[in-house]
Amino acid sequence: MWNPDVYRQFQAERDRPFFDLVAQLPVFQPVLVTDLGCGTAHQTATLAERWPQAQVTGVDSSAEMLEQAPALPNLRLVQADFSRWTPGAPQDLLFSNAALHWIPDQHALIPRLAGLVAAGGVFAFQVPGNFTAPSHLLLAELQNEPRWQGRLATEAGPASLNPLDYADLLTPLGFQVNAWETTYLHLLHGPDAALNWVRGTALRPVLARLSPGDAAEFEAEYGRRLRAAYPEGPSGTAFSFRRVFVVARRTS
Ligand SMILES: C[S@@+](CC[C@H](N)C(=O)[O-])C[C@H]1O[C@@H](n2cnc3c(N)ncnc32)[C@H](O)[C@@H]1O
Repeated sequence: MWNPDVYRQFQAERDRPFFDLVAQLPVFQPVLVTDLGCGTAHQTATLAERWPQAQVTGVDSSAEMLEQAPALPNLRLVQADFSRWTPGAPQDLLFSNAALHWIPDQHALIPRLAGLVAAGGVFAFQVPGNFTAPSHLLLAELQNEPRWQGRLATEAGPASLNPLDYADLLTPLGFQVNAWETTYLHLLHGPDAALNWVRGTALRPVLARLSPGDAAEFEAEYGRRLRAAYPEGPSGTAFSFRRVFVVARRTS
């Protein structure tokens, strides 16, 4: 279950890649726009405001996130799994920020989604590329220890590809691809800042598989390891976060 309040704790840091992605969109006037994994849709609302003539759809599987969405005349919300959802017509802009990585088989997902883009349309997305960062490695390490392994071992977790791999997937499908990566240096503040960050994302599905008592024990141990890996310095807790971006235009 997604918790919008926990997720929103680092709103400015989580919004930054959204606006960096939007900055690379071509100057165009899309009519049909979809935001996959829109969450609370506050970012989606900025797309609806940018193109008031467009019909903007936010798709998300979480009722808790969608409940927080703002109301706008040209924004509609659909509760669905985007790996199966199909729009009524090809989209001029198929957009997604920080969501597509929740489907581990990117080689299947990306071509399927590309097929939903109209001729001349744009497929633009950003996914985390930090799955070998200490935050993820420490989580996997703890999950695989004997205390937890029986209940938590080896479900395929979130995944993403490198920029060139996305380009190689999309170019043969008739897209002109602009793909890049950025590592953000987030300087987080307050105690247990790294733990608070992952509470909103990667830790959430792990704890959901445990009883409340076990979840508290797991989180306490994971937090201890995170504090050692991400010590607080004079500028705050340095939390590096690599992200991968793709803006692909269908040219044929
Ligand atoms: C990290 S949040 C990002 C939300 C928003 N795009 C943002 O950047 O603030 C990921 C969102 O993707 C949604 N999500 C994950 N897997 C999904 C799926 N298969 N279908 C639909 N939504 C999904 C979650 O419910 C969550 O709201």
